[in-house]
Amino acid sequence: MRESMAADRRELLLGRWAVVTLLLSVLCSHLVVATSEKLPRTLSALSVVEGSEPSDVDEEAEVDDEGDPEDLEVFQPTHRWQTLRPGQAVPAGSHVRLNLQTGQREVKLDEEALKYWRNGKSQAGHGKHAVLVLHGSGAQGGLEEEEADLRSRFRSLDELKKDMAQLDMLVETDFQVMSRLMAQLNRSSATVEEKVSALLDLEYLVHQVDNAQDLVSMGGMKLVMDALNSTDVRLQESAAFVLGSALSGNPRVQVEAVEGGALQKLITLLATDRPLSVKKKVLFAVSSLLRNFPFAQSRFLKLGGVQVLGDLFRSPAGALLRVRIVTLLYDMLVEKELISEAGPDPLPDSSYQERLRQYAQVSLLPLLAEQGWCRLVPELLASPEHDWREKALRTLLAMMPRCRATYQMDPQLGHALGALQQQYRELALGEQDLGEDDRYFGEILELLDTVLLKVR
Ligand SMILES: *[C@@H]1O[C@H](CO)[C@@H](O)[C@H](O)[C@H]1NC(C)=O
Ligand SMILES: *[C@@H]1O[C@H](CO)[C@@H](O)[C@H](O)[C@H]1NC(C)=O
Repeated sequence: MRESMAADRRELLLGRWAVVTLLLSVLCSHLVVATSEKLPRTLSALSVVEGSEPSDVDEEAEVDDEGDPEDLEVFQPTHRWQTLRPGQAVPAGSHVRLNLQTGQREVKLDEEALKYWRNGKSQAGHGKHAVLVLHGSGAQGGLEEEEADLRSRFRSLDELKKDMAQLDMLVETDFQVMSRLMAQLNRSSATVEEKVSALLDLEYLVHQVDNAQDLVSMGGMKLVMDALNSTDVRLQESAAFVLGSALSGNPRVQVEAVEGGALQKLITLLATDRPLSVKKKVLFAVSSLLRNFPFAQSRFLKLGGVQVLGDLFRSPAGALLRVRIVTLLYDMLVEKELISEAGPDPLPDSSYQERLRQYAQVSLLPLLAEQGWCRLVPELLASPEHDWREKALRTLLAMMPRCRATYQMDPQLGHALGALQQQYRELALGEQDLGEDDRYFGEILELLDTVLLKVR
């Protein structure tokens, strides 16, 4: 089931690419014919005008006026992809692609083209760069001739503009794709498979901050929340996935989600019996929602979120989620610590006091101590995974101010730490012998030493 959904999604994305690739290759072959008569040794020239609305008469008229050399600004490609600005023409031997993420055209010379280009340059016998930027007038001698030569290498901007406008019509923008996907999600007759597939495609798109904000302004948050609220676990899982990706580092979406009741819904999903796959994605959404958002954090605490995380940590079903749960708690602890430690910025920041005030309301550490986390976190040390142990040690340290007495009275913890210290001493030595630059085990050993120093 999941495979076929993924395949459908790939197909959709490949479909979009296929259209672009097909059109670009049609354009290119067209252009090779157009230019090869004059310059047999030069690869295809593809010049592109960006942002050309077919209806934008004024702009067209301006470009039509080809008598003015100012109109033809030549882009100088390198072997890296560069974004093409509006109104720039691209010299022969360039590759042009449409970046579907940004909607911008990008240009580069490939190695093969570069070779031709250098040849072209020496053949042309110009002292200057073969790529000319035709700013200024024909004041310098010979420039007019060069200009004419250059012009002959480019297709008329007008022609290319029409081609690119057609390309634009055939390739959907992200906004259009999202509208279509939301309509699919909103159609009452749509099957669960169709809805899940729409959600997974949306998830791909909302990684981009702008797309995630469009999702909100187009009313998509309600649709995602409805899917989260559905009884079908596949819909729940993919809705939580979309939510988590849209929320990541996106304050506007975070606010919208909290206002739409996302926190309560997500906590309920974590608290009730659900498959691991759903809980994983829900935990992802919760983490994205809480990060750098103290208001949501204090709401989460008030709604009993920490209690729910504790129950999940203790349940057998939550075993695989333990490190994610502890990471979420650790991140919140450290975030608050960093903001309190940083002190006011040298440049006064008007929002600083407000942030400080908001973080002051998130009393996570006392709550963690109260709810038994001083004993829960050390359980992660029993894991065979190095990164789980590392996360446990860092969290032990972050909780030290409240948990020290508990740690000190726990003989099992002392033994476990001592045994690990021995083990990581050896691992760190081995690492040193191998001359590794990245001293991962050495770092864990340092953490162990620090924790033991405070606990003994
Ligand atoms: C979903 O459909 C309802 C009517 O069936 C409409 O009112 C609503 O605006 C639609 N939502 C979106 C985001 O398209
Ligand atoms: C979710 O579903 C329940 C009933 O199952 C309903 O009472 C509640 O209003 C729904 N919440 C949202 C946000 O749609």
